[in-house]
Amino acid sequence: MNPTPPDYQAQAQALTARADAALAAVLPAETADPATFHRAMRYAVLGGGKRLRPLLVYAAGLAVDGDGAQLDAPACAVELIHAYSLVHDDLPAMDDDALRRGRPTCHVVFGEATAILAGDALQALAFELLARDEPAGSISADARLRMLATLGQACGSAGMAGGQAVDLDSVGQALDLAGLERMHAMKTGALIRGSVRLGALAGHCDDDVTLGALDTYAHAVGLAFQVRDDILDVEGATEVIGKTAGKDAANDKPTFPALLGMDASHRHLAELIEQARDAIAPLGKNAGLLAWLARYTAERKH
Ligand code: IPE
Ligand code: IPE
Ligand code: MG
Ligand code: MG
Ligand code: MG
Repeated sequence: MNPTPPDYQAQAQALTARADAALAAVLPAETADPATFHRAMRYAVLGGGKRLRPLLVYAAGLAVDGDGAQLDAPACAVELIHAYSLVHDDLPAMDDDALRRGRPTCHVVFGEATAILAGDALQALAFELLARDEPAGSISADARLRMLATLGQACGSAGMAGGQAVDLDSVGQALDLAGLERMHAMKTGALIRGSVRLGALAGHCDDDVTLGALDTYAHAVGLAFQVRDDILDVEGATEVIGKTAGKDAANDKPTFPALLGMDASHRHLAELIEQARDAIAPLGKNAGLLAWLARYTAERKH
């Protein structure tokens, strides 16, 4: 008889709950001064979100070394960066969005100045978590430095923030496919790549072949994630995606559907997922959750 196949969906749900609990624990308490500011930080992070980036940290860690408590800090760090990027992305000066994760955006609830500062503090907390030696001795100081550099690259000018700048500069411009992919690889792909690499480094992986395979996987998943996001902006309903549908066209954003049309965008998405799964096939069954997450990225409804 064949053994029961692993239930990756249940595993992902359990790890999502683990990330939620870890995030709630590392964020400043709502009662601590300045209380409104801390409420804004918690509002931006807790109570919604698929936690894909923490899941990638855990899944990459599992692929190389098993399930250690040292994965919690990088899992929280990437979600804090992501949440900060969403708070700033929604600001009037950027995408000017009023709905996020099915709720009013942070600046709508707390005001623009508080939202900007909450984003800043979430970013700072992410780096602080990676620098801390917790659980004590679980990650060498050398590996923690590599992790700090990885996160800096992922969210800095060559990564997320730079990609957001290109996104804003490209409004109304005709980007070609290479330009669009470069932008997506930076604004969304870089943090996804960083998440996978952080999980591998926290899982004590220093083998270049494995890190390379994981990076090829993450590059494809990162692009696929934003292609799916662009498709959902066109095909999704506001109540399901938890953010205002149709905003990309309204803001004249360069997107995959705008450049290639819907059919070609779906085909491209399927190719990227195949590339991702092929890249980690040599890692065997330990990479099962990573393979499942690639498919989830393409099939998700919100
Ligand atoms: C939305 O990210 C913004 C992009 C980077 C495309 P997610 O779709 O991961 O948002 P949450 O965290 O689940 O709300
Ligand atoms: C946002 O891309 C990417 C980052 C926040 C880095 P989008 O602007 O497409 O994200 P949504 O659609 O508002 O979630
Ligand atoms: Mg945007
Ligand atoms: Mg946006
Ligand atoms: Mg979008």
